[in-house]
Amino acid sequence: MRKNIIAGNWKMFKTRGEAINFVLQVADKVPSQDLVESVICVQAPVLRDMVKRQGDNLRVGAQNVHFKDSGAFTGEISAVLLAELGVTYVIIGHSERRAMFNETDETVNLKIKQALAYDLKPIVCVGESLDIREAGTTKEFVSAQVEKALEGVSESELEQIVFAYEPIWAIGTGKTATPEIAEETCRDIRNTIERLYSKDAAQKMRIQYGGSVKTSNIVELLAQEDIDGALIGGASLVPEDFVFMVNAGVQK
Ligand code: PGA
Repeated sequence: MRKNIIAGNWKMFKTRGEAINFVLQVADKVPSQDLVESVICVQAPVLRDMVKRQGDNLRVGAQNVHFKDSGAFTGEISAVLLAELGVTYVIIGHSERRAMFNETDETVNLKIKQALAYDLKPIVCVGESLDIREAGTTKEFVSAQVEKALEGVSESELEQIVFAYEPIWAIGTGKTATPEIAEETCRDIRNTIERLYSKDAAQKMRIQYGGSVKTSNIVELLAQEDIDGALIGGASLVPEDFVFMVNAGVQK
């Protein structure tokens, strides 16, 4: 059975004080990683503070990584440094970065390979716009994103990767995909992995749903067969809500 992974994507929210306070409030309330994995992905300047305070049950992730070891890339973050800080996960290819910071399928692929080289676990975001959904080509679009993301990634490396299916029309809009819609595309992603690798690899792959996940809808989303967790923006900023949603990920 795949273990659920519940990850908060804090985006550009919370001061250092607020972030530390959050961890102090939730650290002893989230269940053990044996039952469910819980992660918070924070702004780079507070990564060190977060890693220092993470318990055995809470892991820390970054929201971006560059694909080169070092160089003249003003404002970017290296995998070397993230690994040195003790960061576990890194979000790659979030739709906000694709839309606003020129992230492409090609850079997503390079970043995944760079993260893997430094033992950082990529949370790879894919998902369609409203236009694509309405045109009826979601399956082809998302499959192509998955295929391009994984170019040159071996089957043994796949176990380090988590996919997050995040329909762009559901992010920050309050419009959650229905459990059926979310499940359908998560299943398509699993089928794509099976086509590219093997049935075994597809069965092991963890696929999160993201887009307006909150305390009132997480249970029914996680009840879907091919949804193995959630990537949560807005609702993950509230300590009690985060703890509730992580607990919802414990498999009964
Ligand atoms: P949201 O964001 O939960 O606020 O919709 C999700 C995401 O962008 O990862």
